[in-house]
Amino acid sequence: MMRRVLGLACFLLVLLPAIWADHPIVWDTMEITHDAQPDEREVTVTFNFRNASDQPVEIHNIVTSCHCTVVRPHPNPWVIPPGASEKLEAVVDVRSRRGGLSKRIYVGSSAGEQKLVVHVNVPVPPAAKREMNLQLAQLDRQVVLTGDCASCHVTPALGRTGQELFAAACLICHTDDTHRATFVPDLHVARVRRDAEYWRKWISDGAPGTLMPGFAKEHGGFLERDEIDALVAHLLATLPTEPVSP
Ligand code: HEC
Ligand code: HEC
Repeated sequence: MMRRVLGLACFLLVLLPAIWADHPIVWDTMEITHDAQPDEREVTVTFNFRNASDQPVEIHNIVTSCHCTVVRPHPNPWVIPPGASEKLEAVVDVRSRRGGLSKRIYVGSSAGEQKLVVHVNVPVPPAAKREMNLQLAQLDRQVVLTGDCASCHVTPALGRTGQELFAAACLICHTDDTHRATFVPDLHVARVRRDAEYWRKWISDGAPGTLMPGFAKEHGGFLERDEIDALVAHLLATLPTEPVSP
């Protein structure tokens, strides 16, 4: 028994690091930290690597930890000849983010999976900028879905469904982070009973006299009726329906 444990310990201590150290794909760095500029909406980072072995390596699968992180186009499968150097570029969308975030990229190849990490620090915009957006929204709550506002509030949501649509279209304001405005409610808490009609009405029409916009086409929004129905079904399935009694 003791010998087996010792044998396993030797294997873990001696052999495993040797196997890891020998991965044919060698990266200049596997972790990049980027400090975003105040107006930077997408951050591009480049990971340089080379095939340090004498055999070709085939990268067949690259997966990111969030739809906000996209790897720039590359051949698929991507065959790296022996000794060849290449670069992998990733773009992180930070339009709805503030503060620090970390995204992972998993690179699957014929030699096994490797993990890359991108850390981005997103500066909080000047209070005056947020105040100006607020004033514009107070004049017309629909303005947020138009013009330059749309580049953050609409573009990332186009063509998305389910949780991705909810995150891009709704959580940008109804965020779980500490930067959510005090007058924007937390949608993870039911304050009244929330059935399909409740969600449909809020999403389609919003609430006149507040800063909650209407997303239906007839209000100048970008969601078709069937897209709203699909989002309603997603929210009914994932968020609480019954209010918590005080
Ligand atoms: C660069 C991306 C970006 C642009 C452009 C943008 N917003 Fe926003 N907006 C956000 C984020 C992120 C939040 C979440 C709160 C925060 O962190 O400031 C937000 C929140 C809001 C809120 C909720 C209240 C609040 O302050 O949190 C309103 C209303 C709003 N935006 C309106 C607008 C309007 C109107 C425009 C155009 C004049 C606009 N936004 C342009 C990213 C943007
Ligand atoms: C521009 C920022 C903004 C965006 C984007 C936004 N909301 Fe809102 N939402 C608000 C504000 C502000 C209120 C509070 C309205 C009020 O004063 O009653 C609100 C209220 C609500 C309420 C009522 C919640 C309660 O507890 O009273 C629901 C439901 C809701 N929003 C759903 C959504 C959904 C779903 C989306 C995405 C399709 C969305 N919102 C997108 C700003 C926003």
